[in-house]
Amino acid sequence: MPDILIVEDEESLREVLKINFKRQNYSLDCAESFKQAKEFIDKNSYDVVLTDYRLKGSSGFDVLKYQQEKMPLAQTILMTAYATVENAIEALKLGAYHYLIKPLKMEELNAIVGKAIETARILKENYRLKEQLRKQYAVEGIIGKSPKMVKIFDLVKKIAETKTTILITGQSGTGKEVIARAIHGLSRREGEFIVVNCGALPESLFESELFGHVKGAFTDAKFDKRGLVEEANKGTLFLDEITEIPLNLQVKLLGLLQSSRARRVGDTREYEVDIRVIAATNKNIESEVEKGRFREDLYYRVNVIRIELPPLKERKEDIPLLVDNFIRLYSAEQNKAIQGISEDALKLIMNYDFPGNVRQLENIIERAVTLTKDGKIGMDVLPDFIRNTSCEPVSSIYQYGGIDLDAKLMEIEKEAILSALKEANGKKTQAARLLGLSFRSFRYRCQKYGIAADEEEAEENKEQ
Ligand SMILES: Nc1ncnc2c1ncn2[C@@H]1O[C@H](COP(=O)(O)OP(=O)(O)OP(=O)(O)O)[C@@H](O)[C@H]1O
Ligand SMILES: [Mg+2]
Repeated sequence: MPDILIVEDEESLREVLKINFKRQNYSLDCAESFKQAKEFIDKNSYDVVLTDYRLKGSSGFDVLKYQQEKMPLAQTILMTAYATVENAIEALKLGAYHYLIKPLKMEELNAIVGKAIETARILKENYRLKEQLRKQYAVEGIIGKSPKMVKIFDLVKKIAETKTTILITGQSGTGKEVIARAIHGLSRREGEFIVVNCGALPESLFESELFGHVKGAFTDAKFDKRGLVEEANKGTLFLDEITEIPLNLQVKLLGLLQSSRARRVGDTREYEVDIRVIAATNKNIESEVEKGRFREDLYYRVNVIRIELPPLKERKEDIPLLVDNFIRLYSAEQNKAIQGISEDALKLIMNYDFPGNVRQLENIIERAVTLTKDGKIGMDVLPDFIRNTSCEPVSSIYQYGGIDLDAKLMEIEKEAILSALKEANGKKTQAARLLGLSFRSFRYRCQKYGIAADEEEAEENKEQ
């Protein structure tokens, strides 16, 4: 695969660039328009796209956006003869790697392209390794490498193709439905996966929803209606929150499980179905049995194979994988090129207990991706309840085998700038004052950390 794609409408410059990069043994393609660049990107994958800002009928931003959509790990460098601060900021905001001003200084150009190629290659290598890991551990999109989850995956693979009834238990958000769907996916059953939310169906409708009814069975029954049990024929019936089934229906469900036969409400005939039942609950089902709220005979019929999903805090090894997975998922959904999470942010997440389990982690990452423009997810986009769980005293940071003091200080500086900006409602002059900095020095630091300047800054610049 080629290394560089050059997009430049001016032929002489295109030639100069071509010779320059060929001399350094890079392989490259040259496009003279956005249209042609698209054709190249559709066919090939590049590490770096070097594009002119002004292209006939389009702009370098179109190229940048196309690159991000089609090759999110590549890096785009923009070149322009018409430099404006707004454009440069916009380019960086959109995720460009760099913004160069024409006439180009070849030495600078080569250094930047070299670094961009290195960045792209590291990202690609990381991605490849993560994909490898993911494939190794995942069952049908389920992430986990902790011994507890690996054991569950092994069991799932073993039982998926059988017709055995399965009971999945575990706290809310631990992935019960995900596992149930995976079992169905691996089962090769040709029918559908039908969810019955036992907690949400009103008692009066429950029987007819589940088993169907015939016309005239009750006042509102104007037509024959198939039940969810029939919908699940040849597939899987997922009884979610099974302990919520009303007692009188528990008997009928037991009948179905024992004979694979059921009867629509108001009908005299029975029908036969071929279903696989998976039930789930986040309640302690044994104590429901003890209290007489769940029939013991049905319990034994359902609890043939038990999958107990551990809370997330008991399988923290899975957190980094889940975090990566959700970052990838939500940055793809939101069209962003987010490059993972900072070490500190991950550390904070690892220290949290997650009462809402994987669902809560997923929500936190979705929010963090939304609040992050590009680069890595930092501590600043994590919710307060996570940030407050562990404010490490400086004296304890050496337990990780020493620290990089400069990096630590930069991180603290960035955090302080962001929190001052928040405190000052985004007003930069005020934020600078809060930190005891001159506006000039504040602005310099903002630039250093890629904290984008907005119009308000331009206004204030004029005032000065
Ligand atoms: N191991 C996992 N890998 C990837 N995603 C997961 C995993 N476990 C859970 N999730 C995600 O977490 C969310 C919650 O999972 P799910 O709905 O299966 O939980 P649940 O146990 O059924 O919760 P509840 O008891 O509240 O219904 C889903 O968005 C799911 O995609
Ligand atoms: Mg559920």
